Parts: sequence; C-alpha cells; structure tokens
Amino acid sequence: MLNTQQLKNYHSKGFAVLPGCFSDSEMNLLKQTAEHIVERFDPDSTRAVFSTQDQSKSRDEYFLSSGDKVRCFFEEDAFDLQGTLTQEKSLSINKIGHALHYLVPEFRDFSQSEKIKNIALQLGSISPQIRQSMYIFKQPKIGGVIRWHQDATYFYTQPISVITFWVAVEDATLENGCLQVQSDGEPYPLKEQFLRYEDDSTELKTLSDRPWPKDESAQALEVKKGTLVVFNGLLPHFSAPNLSNKSRHAYTLHITCGETEYSKQNWLQSAPIGWS
Ligand code: FE2
Repeated sequence: MLNTQQLKNYHSKGFAVLPGCFSDSEMNLLKQTAEHIVERFDPDSTRAVFSTQDQSKSRDEYFLSSGDKVRCFFEEDAFDLQGTLTQEKSLSINKIGHALHYLVPEFRDFSQSEKIKNIALQLGSISPQIRQSMYIFKQPKIGGVIRWHQDATYFYTQPISVITFWVAVEDATLENGCLQVQSDGEPYPLKEQFLRYEDDSTELKTLSDRPWPKDESAQALEVKKGTLVVFNGLLPHFSAPNLSNKSRHAYTLHITCGETEYSKQNWLQSAPIGWS
C-alpha cells in the first residue's frame, strides 16, 4: 500500500514510487517466466511481420489481434536490411504482450493479487479491471526509445480512469533507459487518442496542441529492482533508448475502473479481468 507521502505525490503529481514493493524472488520468477516464453518462441513465425511486402499492414494485424494473446514483438533494430536477426533471439525481443495477466500462471498470480487490487482501490479505482499486461525487455544496445505519450491515449474511458502499474524487474537507471515523467505536476490535457475503426484501420488523433514537455525538464525515475511505479493516464512520460550493456526489464499492467465507460474505439477490446 502507499504511505501518506506516496499517496499525496500520486494526487498532486500524477505518479508515486514505491521502493521495495516486491521481493527479489518475485521479480526473478517474472523474469524467468518471460525468458521461457521467448525460448519457446519461433522467430520465423513472425517473419511475415517484417517482410518487405505489405509490411505495415501485417505488423498492424499482429499487434491489433494480440489483446487476448501472448505474443513476442521484436525491437525495431533487431534485424539487418536482409531481415536477419543481428543478435541472439533472447536479446532481440522488445516486449511480450498483451494477456500475460490471465494466460500465464506466474503472471496471473502476480497480477491478480490482493496487493495489486488494494493499491488500485487506494488510488481511487472503484472497481479495478486489468485491461493489458506487457513484459518489456529494453534490450542492451538496441532497446528502442518510447516517445512522450500518455497512457489514456490507448485506454480511453469516460471519465479517464486508467492507472499504470510499472514494476521494475531489474534496476532502472538513466543509463539503461529508465522511465522519465513530466516533473512540474501541472495538469496536462489528453493530447492524443488512439482510435481503432471497424475496418481495423487506426488513427492517432490529436486532441490538444499543447507541446510535449522538454526532455531536459523530465524527472528520471531511477529505481531499484522490486520498485512499483504507479501513474495516472494523463501523466506525460517517455523513455530514452538503451545504449548501455544492461537490459532494463519491466512488467506493466494497465488497470481501468469498471464504473467508467470504456471506449469502443480503444484498440484493445478483450474482456477485462476484475476481482470478485
Ligand atoms: Fe506508457
């Protein structure tokens, strides 16, 4: 649970950092489980995703149909121009998504715990529902940049309710591309909405012209393994590329409130997982 200061931070700045929230053994189990998924993953099975023919369409389809599956996504820079992996498979995966929280027992037990539920309740989610899970590798040398964004862009509810649970499975530092957040605590309007239309085309619609914060003014959240970071759907955040030799594994959950209206135009429409 959050202490008084952490709760105050969440409400005033939009995020809170909870060091030591999870044990080393809990983190090791998540890491081991993710690595086993990658071991069993056949990289040739998604070669179509990166074929030069019809590239963006097949890539979109692989992503858009992954809401109720466990799929591996490559780092952008994992392949050379001929489409050959330039490093081992285990060091080429950007993330696994998006239904680990109910399809994989180890992630299910972690995600559907009373601890996660109680934190979501404490943060004001009246009936929390897990919408998505991702295991992020942020691989050494090729871990890609995640540009400034807000998570409500992808999990739009009325009113906005999404809370992100970001768990450091490994130490995260500026060197290996830790999370960076808007630091001034100023309320920020929802700048973009990611829409999925009936024909499965998508659009990132601009809702506000306000510019993203400057990278230099962001607050870097350098955190130790086992730390939980929670933040609200309007908090602008990004992470720089990982140019170091160290990976930066993290596990994330996106939780919305069941009392709000979940947009039918959100890309992910699979049934949410709540607590009884
Ligand atoms: Fe995000």
